[in-house]
Amino acid sequence: MSIIEKFAKFDSSIRKSLHFLPPHLFINLYSNGRKEFLYHLSKYFPKNPIQISSNYNVKLWDIDFNVPLFNSAGMFKTGDGYELVQRQGAGAYLSGTTTAGHRVGNIKDGIHHPFVPLSESKSAINWMGLPNPGHADIANKLAKINKIKGCPIGASISSDNGDDELQNLQGVVLGFKLYDKANVDFIELNESCPNVKHTNGEVDSSGLDKHLIERLEYVSKNYLSHRLRNLPVIVKFSNDTDINLVPKLIDLLIDLGFNGINFGNTSTAYQAKRNQIKSKDLALFDYFTNTFGGGMSGNILKEDSLKLCTKAVKYLKTKTFEDEFHIIRTGGVENHSDIIAGLNNEIKLNQWFTGYFEAFSNDGHHLYKQIFR
Ligand SMILES: Cc1cc2nc3c(=O)[nH]c(=O)nc-3n(C[C@H](O)[C@H](O)[C@H](O)COP(=O)(O)O)c2cc1C
Repeated sequence: MSIIEKFAKFDSSIRKSLHFLPPHLFINLYSNGRKEFLYHLSKYFPKNPIQISSNYNVKLWDIDFNVPLFNSAGMFKTGDGYELVQRQGAGAYLSGTTTAGHRVGNIKDGIHHPFVPLSESKSAINWMGLPNPGHADIANKLAKINKIKGCPIGASISSDNGDDELQNLQGVVLGFKLYDKANVDFIELNESCPNVKHTNGEVDSSGLDKHLIERLEYVSKNYLSHRLRNLPVIVKFSNDTDINLVPKLIDLLIDLGFNGINFGNTSTAYQAKRNQIKSKDLALFDYFTNTFGGGMSGNILKEDSLKLCTKAVKYLKTKTFEDEFHIIRTGGVENHSDIIAGLNNEIKLNQWFTGYFEAFSNDGHHLYKQIFR
């Protein structure tokens, strides 16, 4: 067992007994510790690829994915970690999210990029604020990766939330062009980070956010319709999305030439989710949401992501359309049963973040092998 695997096991065994620490101290410890851990994780990758059954190979948009599961956006914000996940046997590697300009992210009460694991509840909350070095930096890095078949590369893009909306949109289109040139295999447009502003709340007659429609139309006109190669673009929404809007979102995305939808991102429904939080985690949960806000991830999203994606699959079956359009599930994916529940509902691709770390602390680099056993 490598040092990093031993460390993850050790942390998982002591974490629950650190609840006696004052919340601010605990959050500070894990906000810093998370980044350190990720830095070392992406350096200590397995020497050889871990062999995984080919029974789960999936080909979507003419792209081969070794298995229908890979990391979600935000895990590798600096474009590192391809060798790590490829050798672990992941279905793909997703970088970012990046914005046009460099962002330092959120700092409050002396804590940089606040994050808290809620171990008993197998969940987490973060208020990172999309720290990243900008599209150009990461696109340059991704262009140099020695890509291996079965582990394609995706990039995640978001709008800057400056006051000039046109400039924000131009920044998004610049991101598409840079990642296209960097030869990535798919791009995810993040329309759902709870820690940056995406809307001023105006909706159209169908209940869809007016600014969302304008942004997607702009991307369609200024990038999607000019694509010269197979480069699927997926849009990622929140797991808080009203389920009744799913058909309208899918209609809009297909009409505009997008190729997939991801449900989704973290939740800000603090009150609704509070009763799913185990009593030992409640003090941290209350302190974090009252002090920072932030987006909740992990087990508490499992049901929502499955419901939203199942609805999306069902609706898609009623439609006729030309290009491939697929559903990606993110939120509370943790184990073999989640993949099977997805497959039973014809969800062909999944991403994970919070569950990845839990699985790593149990199975180390063999985490994908364990799920796809
Ligand atoms: C620390 C942290 C940072 C995140 N950063 C991003 C990000 O930059 N872009 C994004 O689209 N989602 C981001 N997310 C959301 C995850 O990609 C994912 O959608 C969410 O955590 C739900 O999946 P999970 O339940 O498997 O964690 C982040 C989540 C966490 C916990």
